[in-house]
Amino acid sequence: MSLFAIGDLHLHYQSVLKAPGQLHERVWKNHEEKFRSNCAKQITEEDTLVLVGDHSWGKNLPECEQDLQYICDLPGRKILTRGNHDMFWDAKKTAQLNKLYQPRLTFLQDSYETYRDYALVGTKGFTFEGPFYLDRRGRIVGWDEEAEVHARKLVDRELQRLRKSFELAKADGYQKFIMFLHYPPTNILEERSGFTDMAEEYGASQVIYAHCHGESRFHDSIQGEYRGRTYHLVSGDYLRWKPLRVVE
Ligand SMILES: [Fe+2]
Ligand SMILES: [Fe+2]
Repeated sequence: MSLFAIGDLHLHYQSVLKAPGQLHERVWKNHEEKFRSNCAKQITEEDTLVLVGDHSWGKNLPECEQDLQYICDLPGRKILTRGNHDMFWDAKKTAQLNKLYQPRLTFLQDSYETYRDYALVGTKGFTFEGPFYLDRRGRIVGWDEEAEVHARKLVDRELQRLRKSFELAKADGYQKFIMFLHYPPTNILEERSGFTDMAEEYGASQVIYAHCHGESRFHDSIQGEYRGRTYHLVSGDYLRWKPLRVVE
């Protein structure tokens, strides 16, 4: 029995939208087939797979039905968290989604799930992504301060949602946590953030995130050991569509 994670599947069975990389880069060619076949090799029905956002390019639920069906058909128990492109998923209507898809899929928002004695907590997260102003050598010399103020508000809202997830699990007696975000835990300027601080406050052993795809984005945030926990980037193209085994 194992816990796996991956993000940024960006499925598009019913949508004409695609990421630029999906049109041109080799790693995205037939990525749905590559991922399906890797899951069949790695994941059993006893395993749990957490999909950390950007599931589908569909703009609403009817445009995502085939994408969600593709996820339903993968082996094991599937838990989904929200990404910035998941327009089909209104955070406030998560209960309706769960009602529609239970027991095939679990949509995690303002709640927690469990794996063995771990509580799986998470939210979409947020980070300031610029615009940054560069000098001729490509060094950051400034950024859009208004955009940064706006980003800070979104970060605060996501931190509140994450705290709720931790607190519910803690109230039920959980002491071991794995934390899932869609956005990276820090922006490219930060060494730590409200998200890394919260991971430390509650003692999450691992922090899993995605959103950074394309070679140039893979090192936008923390990877590996940092201040006592382990950070993993699990965007699909980074993992070459092989889900990461998070816990045995
Ligand atoms: Fe994405
Ligand atoms: Fe994203």
